[in-house]
This record gives sequence, C-alpha cells and structure tokens, in this order.
Amino acid sequence: MPTLATTVDGLKLPNPFLIASGPPGTNLNVITRAFKEGWGAVIAKTVSLDASKVSNVSPRYAKLHAASGEVIGWENIELISDRPFAHWIDEFKRCKDQFPDRVLIASIMEEYRRDAWVEIVERCQAAGVDGFELNFSCPHGLPERKMGSAMGEDPEILEQVCGWVKATTKKPVWAKMTPNITHIEEPGRAALRGGATGLSAINTVRCVMGVNLDTLRPEPTVEGYTTAGGYSSKAIRPIALRMVMELATMIRTELPDRSLSGLGGIESGADAAQFILLGADTVQVCTGVMKFGYGCVKPMCDELLGFMAKHQFETLADFKGKSLPYFTTHADLVQKQAARKAAQQTPPSDTAWTGDEFVKQSDALAKGE
Ligand SMILES: Cc1cc2nc3c(=O)[nH]c(=O)nc-3n(C[C@H](O)[C@H](O)[C@H](O)COP(=O)(O)O)c2cc1C
Repeated sequence: MPTLATTVDGLKLPNPFLIASGPPGTNLNVITRAFKEGWGAVIAKTVSLDASKVSNVSPRYAKLHAASGEVIGWENIELISDRPFAHWIDEFKRCKDQFPDRVLIASIMEEYRRDAWVEIVERCQAAGVDGFELNFSCPHGLPERKMGSAMGEDPEILEQVCGWVKATTKKPVWAKMTPNITHIEEPGRAALRGGATGLSAINTVRCVMGVNLDTLRPEPTVEGYTTAGGYSSKAIRPIALRMVMELATMIRTELPDRSLSGLGGIESGADAAQFILLGADTVQVCTGVMKFGYGCVKPMCDELLGFMAKHQFETLADFKGKSLPYFTTHADLVQKQAARKAAQQTPPSDTAWTGDEFVKQSDALAKGE
C-alpha cells in the first residue's frame, strides 16, 4: 500500500496537503476544523505585529465563471489579518495545546526593519508554532508600505530578511514567492542564500477581473473604484506549474537540501500529483477550500493514493521531480523532431498541422471532399 506520510524540513506530515495562508486559516476555530478533517498541516492567515495598520474593504472578491457556471478564477483585494497580534499568539498556543502532534505554520509579514522581524519570529516561536512562512508576495495594499511583494521583487532585501529570520529561529523557514516577476529563480535563489530552508510558490497573480458594462466601473467596485488585485483558483494553475518547475530545477541543481511547497489552483489529487512530479515536496490549497469546504482533503488524498498505486509508487519521494528531466529548450525539441523524422521513412500520422495544411483541409471540407 502506498503512503502519503512524509517528512519535510523535519516536519512530520500525515499527508502533503497543507491549508495555504488565507481565509481557510483565519482563526483558531477554522484551523481546528482543518486538523479534524485531516489536512497535513495548516499555514495560518498572515499576521503582523500591528494589526491596526491593516484596513480591509468590502466587497473584496470578484469571480470568473466558465460557461458551465463553475468558478475558475478568483480575484481578491484582501489584506493580511486585521485581528490583533495578541489574539493570534493566544490562539497559536491554544492550537498547539489541542493538537501537539499536528504541524502549525505561522505566516508572517513585517516592515523592512530587523527588530520587527526578530520580534514577530520570537513571539510566534514562544507560542509554539512549528515553522514559518514569510509572506513576500501579497500583491496589493501592503506594497504601499514596502511590504509583501515589494520585498519579494527585490532579491537583495529578500536575502537580508531571510537572514534576519534564520538567525532568530532553528525552525523551518519557507519564503513565499510572488509570481509577479519575470524570472522567479532569481528571488528564489536569494531567499535560499539568505538561509530559508524552503520556498512556497506561488502567491496570487496581479490582475483586473473585469469592467461592468452597465456602470463602466472595474470590479470589485468599492465606492465606485477598485485597485488591481490577486488572481487565484484553477485559472492560474499552468502559471504555478511553470514557476514550480523553474524553482525545482534551480533547487535540484544548486541547493538540493532545500524544500519546495507548490500552490496555485490545486483542487484535486491529480493536480497535486502534477506539482509533485515537477518537484514539490508539499502542496497547498486556499481557493479550493473556499469553493469546496475543508472536507475536500479526503477525496484529494484518495485520488493521489490511486495515482501512486497505478504507477506502483510507494512514497512521495518515488515520484517527486520525476517529470523534470522532460523539459528542454525549444531548439532541442526541433533537433529531436528532425532526428526522429530522419530515422523514419514515412511521415508519422500525428504530425502537427501547419497553417498550409489547415487551409487545404478546410478547402477540402468546404468542397465536401
Ligand atoms: C481571499 C484570499 C486571501 C489570501 N490571503 C493570503 C494571506 O494572508 N497570506 C498569503 O501568504 N497568501 C494569501 N493568499 C494567497 C493564497 O495563499 C495562495 O497563494 C493563492 O491564492 C494561490 O493558491 P489557490 O489557487 O489555491 O488559492 C490569499 C488568497 C485568497 C484567495
């Protein structure tokens, strides 16, 4: 029988499915629910030392629907937690008292000051959390205070802040990366150089959901106005898979002892299998839980186990990164195809259509041939 149990950066997890930082980990009540439903770990909603500086607005969500009505894209302009830090510290303690063997990770964000990062790490650590995720990636609101993705886009600052955190704790430290950058390996490498034990990728993709054609106002509309937000759900999965592939390739070649947590549009065991095949140690789910509820972890685990049984993989390590060697350059694809064609006398039946062939086929169809 295959097993989903895994140990990542010393954290013992019953399965690789983690609650991602966001509404599904927004207070002790829902974190408790997540553990009871069987989630492998919970990464709580991002906290900062002074919640009075965080002011949320309403509405803060807008959705993209497929023709079937299914939500496939989700925009949010939500900030980090606006609950007082002291409440969080109390809830972290109570959570660890109730679930001493389950993994609780604090997601933290602070201003660009060493003393602030040291203080938030020390106080969360004293409350008993098992590790840290550093939110360097929220794309809206916080960058105005030089926080979130403003830090994540600057490799020098990333390296320095990861260094401050790593010097303060022996617990695992994951740097959560922004996708709103051209080459994600550069900030990823800087965070690991600074001492992060792992990376999480990706946070939301900066977006504008749309414009209301009656009012001519962009959405979500707050007092007639909006701001660019963060895009999540299954529409961003291909972007997340590409970025996980790039980070995993960098980690594998340069720093193979570091971990990678993949997220962005994961809703099923099959989705999770793809992230692990591209080098992720764990996978996280945020919008999927908002769409389907905490119970979705069970079918996800069952589907991932079914995939493992089909391929006779006993552990996650048996297939982690197994699809990475099949990425190459476009020039190499051309060479490989030319070599294969040269080795064959007759053209293969699956040759892709060129534009010319498409026109010929359409003409033939029009003539009824
Ligand atoms: C409403 C909402 C709030 C979020 N808040 C946070 C947050 O506080 N901290 C954080 O690191 N990520 C936050 N995220 C980002 C998610 O953790 C995740 O990186 C992103 O949504 C992609 O994953 P998904 O498609 O599974 O949602 C939030 C996402 C949503 C939709």
